[in-house]
Amino acid sequence: MQLLQLQHVDDAALAREAAAGLLRAQAQVAPKLFYDALGARLFSAITELDEYYPTRTEAAIFARHGAAIAAEALRIAGPAPPLIDLGAGDCAKAARLFPLLRPGRYVAVDIAVEFLREALLRLQAAHPGLAMLGVGLDFSQRLVLAPHITGDAPALVFYPGSSLGNFAPDDALRLLREARALARGGALLIGIDLVKPRAVLEAAYDDALGVTAAFNLNVLRNLNRRLGADFEPRQWRHVAFYDAMHARIEMHLEAREALAVRWRGGDERRFAAGERIHTENSHKWTPEGFAALLREAGFSSPAHWCDERRWFSVFLAAA
Ligand code: AVI
Repeated sequence: MQLLQLQHVDDAALAREAAAGLLRAQAQVAPKLFYDALGARLFSAITELDEYYPTRTEAAIFARHGAAIAAEALRIAGPAPPLIDLGAGDCAKAARLFPLLRPGRYVAVDIAVEFLREALLRLQAAHPGLAMLGVGLDFSQRLVLAPHITGDAPALVFYPGSSLGNFAPDDALRLLREARALARGGALLIGIDLVKPRAVLEAAYDDALGVTAAFNLNVLRNLNRRLGADFEPRQWRHVAFYDAMHARIEMHLEAREALAVRWRGGDERRFAAGERIHTENSHKWTPEGFAALLREAGFSSPAHWCDERRWFSVFLAAA
């Protein structure tokens, strides 16, 4: 097992980007600021909530259709393809596919290799014959991996969880194009959340226990640490709603009262009561709309499997 940190997290650049976002007319924060150590745990708790259907629905699709999905993936990519897992985290979703896909090599990509170390050590012990590589890369900027990392055989790029939905449409298209280049004639296997009734969507992003609210508010703690800011989380409230026109959930933090926030270097931003910081979009697609996006990115023959309620889809497309 090998670990490679391709790109070091540049704290100063991240702090500059965060400050610029706060100073925009409509204040905004990049969703990657959710995922400090506590944020990663809160997201993991979200996936266990009754209201948050995506994780368990995707798992059910793989449990029911995994053999058919794998057979089709291997038909396109050929036997024993390199499996490139984007945003691998604890590597559990990809590991469940190993018996079906029998990959020739496993490349787990995440923003920092430290996130991958333990999971890969555990997996390597369970699959001693499989070559494994952990890669630290912030692919929200650019997804390029050299052939000495991926191998030069057609690969299967795996991007589960509908994480693509957190990208702006232009960035999602760019990432899909880069994923296609990475697959080198292989295929993309991607989990996509579908458009559905507003009440289901809004409950998933504003749960009764307040876990998603804590996940959203935790951005303020992270900004305090990264920027030396003085956000007081109790002065803010979690807001999540479905914007049907853009087919996306929007998450915001709303000031409960008029307030000012200061941070290192003497910068300050005043917020009126009710003013918001936009923290995340989570785009939803129709199956036809996502198939069209795959084609626009250069993929062909998109196929998809979904649950009985048609809430979530797993797409496979030839690169
Ligand atoms: C990681 N991503 C796919 C989640 C989503 O559903 O957009 C992040 C999330 N935000 C609030 N709840 C979950």
